[in-house]
Parts: sequence; C-alpha cells; structure tokens
Amino acid sequence: MQLNPLNPNLGLEIKDINLAALTDTDFEKVEDLFNQHMVLVFRDQKLSRDQHKAFAKRFGDIHIHPSHRGGMKGKGDDPELFVIDTPADSKITNGELWHSDVSCEVIPPLASLLYITETPDNGGGDTLFANMCTAFSEMSEELQNFLIGKTAVHDGEVDLANYNVRLRVGQEYPKASHPVIVAHPVTGKPILFVNPSFTSHIEGLKQWESKMILDGIHRFVATNARIQCRVNWQPNTLVMWDNRCVQHQAIRDYAGFPRYGERVSVVPSVQPKAFNP
Ligand code: SIN
Repeated sequence: MQLNPLNPNLGLEIKDINLAALTDTDFEKVEDLFNQHMVLVFRDQKLSRDQHKAFAKRFGDIHIHPSHRGGMKGKGDDPELFVIDTPADSKITNGELWHSDVSCEVIPPLASLLYITETPDNGGGDTLFANMCTAFSEMSEELQNFLIGKTAVHDGEVDLANYNVRLRVGQEYPKASHPVIVAHPVTGKPILFVNPSFTSHIEGLKQWESKMILDGIHRFVATNARIQCRVNWQPNTLVMWDNRCVQHQAIRDYAGFPRYGERVSVVPSVQPKAFNP
C-alpha cells in the first residue's frame, strides 16, 4: 500500500490496493488507518456493486437510506445503494450543504463509502471534509463545558426543505435527538456532533440562543481550513469517511457536466453516546 496523507489533520490517500480482493491482514490495516485518518481515498478501483457492498459489509450492516423507506421513492432500484447522480443539466446535487450523512437517524451510519465512476470533464466536483474532533478541541474550555451534556434535534425534514421537498401524506422521514458532544466509540475522543443540514435546534435553550450558537459553530467549521481536507475525485475512486466525526460538503462547480457515483453506508448497533469527561 502506498500512503499519502492529504493533510496533517485529516485524510489519507491509499494507492496500490485492490478493495475487491482484500486479505484479512490488509483489512485490519485499512481499519486502523480509517480510525486514525477518518477519510480514506482509494484510487483506481474496479468494483462491481456486489464488491462495493462486500467491502462495506466488513465494517457493519448496510444502511437503508430513508429515501428508500417510509413511503419515499429513492433513486435507483437497490435500497442498499444511495445513488449520487448529477446530470449535466441538474439544478441541484446531493450534499451541497455541510452535513454528516442522515444524522437524523436514531442510529446514524458509522461510515459512508462513495464510489465515483464519472467525474465532471471541467475538473470540478471535489468534496470537502471537516474533522469534528479537531473542531471540538479548538473551542474554548468554557464553550466545550457549556455544550457537554446538551442534546440537539436532528430533523430529516430540515434537510428535505433544502431541496424544496415536503413530505406528503403517508411519507415519513427520521428525526432524532443526539448528544451535542459525542464520544467516538473507538478512540473515545469528544466530537462536535451538529451540522447545518439536519440539526434543527439545541434542546433546553431558547430558539434564538440555539440559533446563535449553531450558526456560530457552522461558520467556524465551514471557514476553518485547518480542520478540513479536500478530495479531488478521479473516475473509479472510492472514498470512505467516518460519519461519526467528519462532516462533508459536495462542491457543485460543474454545471453543464455530469457526475455519477453510488454510496453504500454502514450502521453500528448502538446510538451515539454522550462524551463524559
Ligand atoms: C454525499 O455523500 O453527501 C455526497 C458527497 C459527494 O457527492 O461528493
């Protein structure tokens, strides 16, 4: 394996590895690297859908996206795949606002594995990632202590509204309350677990207080390049990210050019746990 860190805080590119034929020893290495670097970029992969899913399954059970449940009609006919298809003339793309994938789930996915097979010919379509462990550690102790023990509501309808989608009668989308500061289940590190796509409010505060704090956090994350890395996709790149401690944003700078990929996410068996110092 050839390893190239994307930056000191986040992200690792891995070359010379075949995810379709990974030995158990290599899988253990990949798992360690995942826990250390949080965003892994695998280049030059040739994966069938089954091979993509088989690699994902080594990390946990496959998540069925809410767009394939609760009376919703998701893209594509395989509920285990979340299709990220942005045709050349599309007005929108998936994930343009900073988010952690479907954090509105009671048990959100631990990892997402996106396999992009078609990249825009103008060279656009990168994805930004932010390390939410570092976001927490860069806050003052006063703000950290204020947020520890708080909970926030993550509401799928807030995200749907970003795409001008409203639920119709008979349709359901998840909503959950999670600790604002979560403990990473493997490293034990505290993570700032709120995002602008799904988090509607911090519980127990007045609406304006919650909005003031969340807006400040979202601005801090979006404008703090020190905690971010940027992935430039090439066709047949698979990127997996730790959804528990990383947020991401898809950059739509390729109007007029198509981009296509399929994402498989995996779920843990337990809900996010509060960080307890
Ligand atoms: C997403 O998973 O939110 C989309 C990321 C991307 O298309 O780069």
